[in-house]
Amino acid sequence: SWSMSSFIENVVKDVKNKVGEDEVVCALSGGVDSTVVAVLLHKALGKRLHCIFVDNGLLRLNEGEEVVSYLQKHFDLNLHYVQAQDLFLNRLKGVEDPEKKRKIIGHTFIEVFEKEANKLKKVKWLAQGTLYPDVIESVSYKGPSAVIKSHHNVGGLPEKMNLKLIEPLRELFKDEVRKVGIELGLPDFIIWRHPFPGPGLAIRIIGEITPNRLDILRQADKIVQNELLASDWYRKVWQGFAVLLPLKTVGVMGDERTYEHVIALRVVDSIDAMTADWTRLPSELLAKISNRIINEVKGVNRVVFDISSKPPSTIEWE
Ligand code: XMP
Repeated sequence: SWSMSSFIENVVKDVKNKVGEDEVVCALSGGVDSTVVAVLLHKALGKRLHCIFVDNGLLRLNEGEEVVSYLQKHFDLNLHYVQAQDLFLNRLKGVEDPEKKRKIIGHTFIEVFEKEANKLKKVKWLAQGTLYPDVIESVSYKGPSAVIKSHHNVGGLPEKMNLKLIEPLRELFKDEVRKVGIELGLPDFIIWRHPFPGPGLAIRIIGEITPNRLDILRQADKIVQNELLASDWYRKVWQGFAVLLPLKTVGVMGDERTYEHVIALRVVDSIDAMTADWTRLPSELLAKISNRIINEVKGVNRVVFDISSKPPSTIEWE
């Protein structure tokens, strides 16, 4: 549209003016906000933009690779793919408390990002996908005032690193960011991607995070994503995902007793994540998701559907 294309032109012009011959770094998560920032700035700066993608070992199945390979193929982006899975998972060993998980992941992210960014000697700027709601602090995960669950992103980086900030999406809401993304020609799988928390699957595995639990959750979550997409519910809901519970229950398979994990299915409608309600999915779809998870994911013999609204519950379980 006209307004979005002029928005893009203006950002490109502004960034060129501001940055001059300097280099810029940005953290790329694969979500729509940071991907739109990366593509916008790449238009203005080409190879003088450095994107750092940190794989923390807590991403969904093939998630990182999909976005990264798309961007490399189509935009010739200067991309630093940091494999830090072992570091994160080692530090999370034995940790069960949700706030401890969040803090470990947040600190480790900053450490890994800083180390990588410090290798780029000529960088003077940090670009971030801060949106208007983050600025007015109604959704607090990216802002300084998260009180209910501690958050993580790169908000704490600039003072320590002496980088100046570029925040081209500061005046936009999520739906406008999506429009910019469409105008930039980004594919549907990026534009319509559900929000995914910085701490990733760590806060969707209740209790300790182990390689086996991650593997179970990834498989179950893939089924949820695929079935939401196939039924066209994916775009109607705010977010839909699987949660792995730290308990086992009894089941039966053939004439054998089983004793295996429970998966909780969480699907919600929301406008801004401040409030949310569970989505009234058709029972046929629920049945299909449940049957597929129990039949296809080894180690799971029960699926439950979360029917809590926010408040008093939250969207994520931790
Ligand atoms: P809750 O669970 O508080 O989540 O209802 C509200 C929205 O925020 C997402 N979320 C996060 N996003 N870092 C983020 O960037 C985080 O630490 C984080 N925790 C929750 C959640 O997925 C939902 O969309």
